[in-house]
Amino acid sequence: MSKNVSVWSSISFWRRSAAWVTGFAVVLLIWLTFDTMGQITMGNDDDLQNGVTKRVPAPTVINYHITYEMSTKRGHEVPVIGKKEPFFGKEWSVQEAAGLLHLGKLTSQAKNCMNCHTLLGNGAYYAPDLTKAWLDPAWSADGPMLAMTGKSTKEEAMAEFLQHPSKYPTHARMMPDLGITATEAQGLVAFLKHMSSIDTNGFPRNFGKEQGDTNAH
Ligand code: HEC
Repeated sequence: MSKNVSVWSSISFWRRSAAWVTGFAVVLLIWLTFDTMGQITMGNDDDLQNGVTKRVPAPTVINYHITYEMSTKRGHEVPVIGKKEPFFGKEWSVQEAAGLLHLGKLTSQAKNCMNCHTLLGNGAYYAPDLTKAWLDPAWSADGPMLAMTGKSTKEEAMAEFLQHPSKYPTHARMMPDLGITATEAQGLVAFLKHMSSIDTNGFPRNFGKEQGDTNAH
């Protein structure tokens, strides 16, 4: 009886390989789960005050100026949290900011913004992607939306638009009036500002080239 059997046809070799591969995959998945949890856990107010960058900053990020800047190292734009700025004319405490953001999130669900818009990759493509809407140049000091709404700050202009979108048609498609109250509009704007501060690895792609160009839609 010859023992000269190729390793490729040895059953015990494949059994052992299967056990090793399964074991390795389990360890890798557990490690990735913990790594992801660390990356997506919301930062806190101390992080913001100490300039610690978190992928998902604390709700009090609404008290800061946010810009979108090209990172040559990463090859795409990243949100950069700058100096403090008033939001609806004041600085929001940790509790107030969390409450406002919560109201905005609930309102976005109740009014089903995702039915037309995309938020963080989820939703529809009927209307502009809202993930970085706060950074859309159309709402900047020299953009058309402040002049159109007659407001002097970005947050007031957005809140006014959200309450009466049909009064401010900018593109061929119009956003319908959804019966949003003044308080809900403030919450939604906080929700949009917070969302824009989340590091989404450059998604949606080509934001900035498409947005703010009122002829592009
Ligand atoms: C029925 C579809 C529809 C729904 C629902 C809807 N929108 Fe819109 N929205 C639009 C359309 C269309 C536009 C583009 C209108 C324009 O620019 O004149 C728009 C524009 C916007 C803009 C301006 C985007 C930019 O980058 O300048 C914001 C902000 C916005 N919507 C927020 C919301 C929020 C928040 C909700 C949920 C409360 C919502 N929308 C629900 C259709 C919708």
